[in-house]
Amino acid sequence: MAHMIIDGKPCQAISGHTLEVRSPVDGKVFDHIPRSDARDIDLAVRAARAALNGAWGQLSATERGRLMLKLSQLVMTHAEALALLEAKDTGKPMTTARNDMVVLSRYFEFYGGAADKVHGEVIPFLNGYQVNLLREPLVVTAHIIPWNYPAQMMGRSIAPALAMGNAVVVKPAEDACLSCLRIAELALEAGFPAGALNIVSGIGEEAGAALANHPDINFISFTGSNEVGVLIQQAAAKHAVKCTLELGGKSPHLVFEDANLELAATTVVRGIIQNTGQTCTAGSRLLVQQSIHDRFVALVAEKFKQVRVGTPEMNLDCGPVVNPTQQQRVNRFIEQAKASGLPVLAQGQIDPGVPADGYYVMPTFFGAVPADHPLAHQEVFGPVLAAMPFQDEAHAIALANGTDYGLLAAVWTENGGRQQRVAKALKCGQVFVNSFGAGGGVELPFGGVKRSGHGREKGFLALEEMSTTKTVVHFHG
Ligand code: NAI
Ligand code: MG
Repeated sequence: MAHMIIDGKPCQAISGHTLEVRSPVDGKVFDHIPRSDARDIDLAVRAARAALNGAWGQLSATERGRLMLKLSQLVMTHAEALALLEAKDTGKPMTTARNDMVVLSRYFEFYGGAADKVHGEVIPFLNGYQVNLLREPLVVTAHIIPWNYPAQMMGRSIAPALAMGNAVVVKPAEDACLSCLRIAELALEAGFPAGALNIVSGIGEEAGAALANHPDINFISFTGSNEVGVLIQQAAAKHAVKCTLELGGKSPHLVFEDANLELAATTVVRGIIQNTGQTCTAGSRLLVQQSIHDRFVALVAEKFKQVRVGTPEMNLDCGPVVNPTQQQRVNRFIEQAKASGLPVLAQGQIDPGVPADGYYVMPTFFGAVPADHPLAHQEVFGPVLAAMPFQDEAHAIALANGTDYGLLAAVWTENGGRQQRVAKALKCGQVFVNSFGAGGGVELPFGGVKRSGHGREKGFLALEEMSTTKTVVHFHG
């Protein structure tokens, strides 16, 4: 039975209620987590507030950074056990789960190193004045984490917050949170003072909503669905606090006729099947210039057919998806696309040895997808790739920008001028040129425009998001 951490102590929900933890690998219950409610959330927020007035608030930036570096090392010491837990909880292949722990460790390393390198400014003003711009914590920060990369997402969200001296309350996803609970335990082992990092498990509508609506939090970081993102922003508005929202995407590859087609094809397939397509930055749209369309799409199809789905131990390209709802969602998209007559260009293979009750879906590559088809503009969050042709640069840009989302895009061309022009014209938060980066890249500022959300995570910009400034104007004559 897993436990939460509030005020430095392992605990269960006050109500004593629990939730079953099922593995997507075989649909079987293998653990339980506390099902917390508003009372537990209140304790966690109070503990965070007390920590800021106590030991945590007293630490220097250097001391905070050292604790984070210690945690980074502890994550690596326990990486294999954490990866096994993550793989069982989410179904992801062991290689992916192991990589997730390396990225998690990197978050604490990067932001631990940054903790004492962020400083204020002196602003020139009228004669006789000294003006200092101080950089200060937001104070109590709330972090609502999704299930697709639980450990990585927790690192991404809380590491910059801790580096800036905030005290955090984390609400991981009910669908996969065992690694997050374990990371909070490792933080205690690293020596974080009580209340600096609190974690409360439970259902989104119950524990998540209680946290987002709590009157004594000062900031909310959220990654997840559009629907809940809107609720989070409404909750933040009630108490006039800031929030950052990362709400997924429909990220395109733009493949021009002069691209390195072999590299592009390999990367395109990897970019959609990674984590079984359950990645906010999944490269789910493939826009291909008409002149090379058939040739390139055939090359992608050839590679797509090699995609294998299995259990974490089989360690193939994909695992199952996280839960039956997600499985039904992906299957519904596939069935509707077939019913509307879209050609299936390729499918992967599900290993015959997978348990019958696991949540496996068939990776599927559709061609000739019209721009107004749901597959061209709705997020599937599964291993489903949609290809469509374009005539020229202007057409490619129009298609790429033609959804409500704007998270990431990749441009494939050897033409330097086109690389620059297209990168500037794309409406999204990250552009990769002749490359594609889903996950990782802790140094690279990341986030969306349009319905993909707002605010920036990763890199040094996250330190700005997770802090505020105070302008001190001093008249000295
Ligand atoms: P969700 O948005 O419901 O869950 C994400 C997190 O929000 C979880 O921790 C959940 O407990 C919490 N939550 C849910 N309802 C809440 C509420 N009313 N107040 C506060 N917190 C709440 O996402 P869900 O339902 O698991 O997945 C649905 C779709 O959302 C997916 O198919 C996918 O399209 C998208 N999604 C996108 C993610 C991304 O990385 N951008 C991650 C997860 C889901
Ligand atoms: Mg939901």
